[in-house]
Amino acid sequence: MKGSLKNDGKGVFEMRTLKEARIIELPTFFDARGNLSFAEQFEQIPFEIHRTYWIYDVPGGEMRGGHAFVNNQEVIIALSGSFDVVVSDGDRREVFSLNRSYFALYVPNGLWRSLENFSTNSVALELGSEPYDGTDYIRDFDVFMKLKRDGKI
Ligand code: TYD
Repeated sequence: MKGSLKNDGKGVFEMRTLKEARIIELPTFFDARGNLSFAEQFEQIPFEIHRTYWIYDVPGGEMRGGHAFVNNQEVIIALSGSFDVVVSDGDRREVFSLNRSYFALYVPNGLWRSLENFSTNSVALELGSEPYDGTDYIRDFDVFMKLKRDGKI
């Protein structure tokens, strides 16, 4: 099923909550020649990957994100440097500090998220479950809260 409501298999649909956002530790081969980590769809990444993009050259103090997706699920990796991902389900917020390239943050659809506190030369890699679709964005927090209250996301 599309949308951020999740089927528990018994026909009961629940809203996405913050506890579904989680850190995934990626396999890593530590090597004197340099380290290697990887991720595969349906293995470490809990969805089929339909898109990837990356954010870089972020000026000090700038913030990215600041929206929710109706359908798109994401995995965010700090390939270089560090930054914080602030995730909110409308009730609660949690700050995930990413600073190792073998930690990936899974953010389900239907949660508000923003990327903040970028270190110099940091690179944020984002893997998405959906192709780019501007209509999948909720960019107004009040609209997000209303959709949550109404049980629509
Ligand atoms: P946007 O998602 O608004 O950035 P942020 O992550 O800070 O919210 O994307 C910025 C611009 O890039 C916007 O004009 C749309 C474009 N864009 C694409 O064309 N394809 C993509 O996959 C993404 C993520 C953005």
